[in-house]
Formats: sequence, C-alpha cells, structure tokens
Amino acid sequence: MDFSVQSKDVWALHADARVLPRFEDAKAAGLPAKLAHALENAKKKKLFSGKKGEAWTTDGVILVGLGKSESFKPSSLLRVIGATYPTLRRLGASSVAIDLNGLPVESVSFAAQGLLDAAYRFDDFKKEKTPEWVEKVALASREHDASLHLKKALIVAEAVRKARDVDNQPPNVATPAFMAEQAQKIARAGGIKATVWDEKQLKAKGFNSILAVGNGSVHPPRFVVMEYAGGAKSEPWVAIVGKGITFDSGGISIKPGADMDKMKFDKSGACTVMAVMGALRDLNVKANVVGVLAFAENLPSGSAYRPSDLLRTFNGKTIEVLNTDAEGRVVLADALGYVFQQYKPARTVDLATLTGACCVALGEQFAGLFGNDDALMAHLQAASVQSGDAVWRMPLDEFEDDVKSEIADVKNIGHPKGYAGASTGAAFLKAFVSGPWVHLDIAGMAWLSSPKPYLTSGATGFGVRLLLAWLTQKTESTVAKPKK
Ligand code: BES
Ligand code: ZN
Ligand code: ZN
Repeated sequence: MDFSVQSKDVWALHADARVLPRFEDAKAAGLPAKLAHALENAKKKKLFSGKKGEAWTTDGVILVGLGKSESFKPSSLLRVIGATYPTLRRLGASSVAIDLNGLPVESVSFAAQGLLDAAYRFDDFKKEKTPEWVEKVALASREHDASLHLKKALIVAEAVRKARDVDNQPPNVATPAFMAEQAQKIARAGGIKATVWDEKQLKAKGFNSILAVGNGSVHPPRFVVMEYAGGAKSEPWVAIVGKGITFDSGGISIKPGADMDKMKFDKSGACTVMAVMGALRDLNVKANVVGVLAFAENLPSGSAYRPSDLLRTFNGKTIEVLNTDAEGRVVLADALGYVFQQYKPARTVDLATLTGACCVALGEQFAGLFGNDDALMAHLQAASVQSGDAVWRMPLDEFEDDVKSEIADVKNIGHPKGYAGASTGAAFLKAFVSGPWVHLDIAGMAWLSSPKPYLTSGATGFGVRLLLAWLTQKTESTVAKPKK
C-alpha cells in the first residue's frame, strides 16, 4: 500500500473509492448534490446517521460514522477506517481517497495505521498468499505536519506488523532460540546492541527461575537484552520487559485441552518489546531504553519443574512454586531482578499475558494496569488514550499478603480460589521490583480468537502503540531523574 498526504478536497482527488468519515451531527453541506440527496434518504430510512461503527456504501463512497464530535478520539479511526478494508475489496478499489479534512492531524496517522492493520495477513505457511488489493491511498488533509505524521505512522504500523508476525509463529518454529534470533535481527539493522544468553550462561549467572520454567522442554531458555541508547549518556535507562513463553502448556500443572493452542501467544509481551525497540531506533527517539525478553517453553516432562519446588532467583529472593502454570511471574522474577540490579531504570514497564483472571475482569476491552508509582501510571493512562491501546487501572497493594509464603519469600499463586488473580499476579511481581514500575497484564488483548473487519484473528501487537506513545510523550520527560 502506497500512502500519500494530499492537501486538497477529497473530491478533487482521483480514486476508485472514497471514504468519508462523518460525525453524528454533521450537515450534508460540502457534499456533491447527488450524494447529499442519497444521504438524506439513508438517514430517513435509518441506514446511516453517523453513529460510531456505522458504515454505508453508495456509488463508490463509503460513509463511516464517527459518533458525536465532542467525544471524538483520533485513535478511533484505527477501527473505523480499518473496517472499510473488506468493503474496499468488495468494490475492487485499488486506489482510495480518505477525507480527513476538518479532523485533527493525528487522524492522518490513525487512518493509515487502521488500513495497514486491517490488511495484515499471516500467510507464511500458505501456498497461496493473499494479494493486496488496495494499492494507493490518498489521505486528504490540509493540516500542517500531516506528512510527518504519516511518515511516523508508517514506522509504527510496521512495528505492529513485526510484533504480530513474530507472535503468530507456531511454537514448533518459534523456540526460545528462534525468538532470540528475531531480536538479534532487529538489532542488526543498526543502533541497538543485543545480548543473548543461552542456558549455560543463564546457569552461570544465576537465572534459576527462567531455567526452572524451561527445564521440561528440549528447547532451552534464552534471555535477551536489547540496548537502545538514543539519549544523552547522563540520562538514566527506561526499561521495558516482556514475558516470552513460547508455549504454555501449564507444565506439570497442565492446562485443559480446550484453547491450549492459544498459548503460543504467551510470548506476546516479548514480541511487543522487541518490535518497540526497533521502532525507537527507526523513529530516532531521544531516550535510553533497554528491552529485556525472557524466553522459555513451559512443558511437562521428567525434567520439568514441579509444584512444591523452591527456587532461588537472580536477586536472591526465593519462590515457592505451587502451580507450574503460573510460570510467567516466575520468569519475570529473574528478568525484573536483573534489570533493576543492572540498569537502575528511572522507569520500568513490563508486558505479560500473565493471568486468565485479567481476561475475566476486563475481557477483550482493556489490559490491566498495575504499578507502584502514581505518576508513571498516569503517564501510561494518557498514552493509552492517545494510542488507542486501552488499559484500565487495577488494585495491587491490598494483595501483597496473598503471595507471602511460609517457607520462601513469595509463592507463585494467591488466594486458593483464584480470587483477584490478576492483582495477586501483579503483587508477586512487585516483590522483584525496586523502582517506579508498571505491569501491564495483556492476557485479554494479545490475540483475537475470531476475526473483526479491522483485524484478522491471531496476534494483535497490543502494546506497541502504547509503549511508543509513552516513550515519545511530550508531557513526560523520559530523562527526568528517578524518584528517591
Ligand atoms: N499464560 C497464562 C495466562 C493466560 C491464560 C493468558 C489465558 C491468556 C489466556 C498464565 O501463565 C497462566 O496460566 N496463569 C494462571 C495462573 C494461576 C495458575 C495462578 C491462570 O491464569 O490460570
Ligand atoms: Zn501458565
Ligand atoms: Zn503463561
């Protein structure tokens, strides 16, 4: 797909199809007489009134509803514009013009990303590839800086695609070693230093909890550190940490068969982190960011770790394993322990498909946001609104007692009935944290089970836009001194 910004009226552009976003309260003024008339009729017949999610096609024009103008968010265009993609196919449109005049400049970015998201297909394993039918997209906008917004949007969209591509790989291909190789590939494109440790190095350095989780698999764990030093030397690190379980069978505490296939997406957090690292470089972001990826495969076998095992983690704290299926927090214990000791980051955000309980609480609408620093949480909430990656703040402190163990520093499950499972998961992680930190439980957001018009089923790349919005936020200086 070839995108361009055109500072013209949408009707002055040549295109096979036109997409016209409309507010609920919009007048028909400015439309060609024939279309204005058709729109009046459509309104009368309750076919289209501009409500959010509505779409109506007539004569090569797709009208899409934006809802009320006062509650409009540019990021809503990801879905609104993305959802026109199947219609564009039906119309056989290879060139499209989208009317963004009158909308804020960010609309240019989200309209382009929406189409690219919708057009994404994972067909590496298909003999017949899906052809791309939309070739040219003209974004009609007279906003200052629209071209710059488009340029950045293409980088962000590419990063989202990268995360989805790696995450969609099956676990017989995407072993921990394969995943580490993907991170190295991103780093090799320049500007990022990647370090990969294999099982021998992990043993020597004391990463016992990652090793324990991976011990049931013939594909041993990998730990990856990606350093992007785009800021001044004097500036502190910001850390992003991703859970990278290449397949989560539950291990000895094995999961039921239904939907177990979805546990190939248990590496989503790490996929997002590696894609973000590449995008920071491509966007030339002025910040020092370290990305940490913890890869292991959780399988049952004669060598698998077991309920009742006691583990000594990287920073010396101990874990009582009571359920081998709560493995994400176990690998993150080492990863967080390492990153705080080694980098003393001013801010740390981890992303993990950590708990089914988070899906129960927030469904496929929000990722759970937990943390120990109000300002940092507020920054991520702002980035969420800006980026369209939805998060919802959840409680944490009240659950710290639930993960205390009689015989170790923490145990890896909370309440025996699983009450507040997302919060007890976060409370466990907090034991390995020593600085401003946010945990994002992306279990409900990382993949889609059934396709939507704006997104195929499979990996979503959730978090890429959120982290990039946060790391490039103007309101927050990522270079500020860490709080004491
Ligand atoms: N990867 C799963 C969490 C998950 C489940 C994500 C379903 C998305 C959909 C995680 O490792 C896990 O199994 N967590 C357990 C924790 C429990 C044993 C305390 C869970 O959620 O059941
Ligand atoms: Zn699990
Ligand atoms: Zn898991």
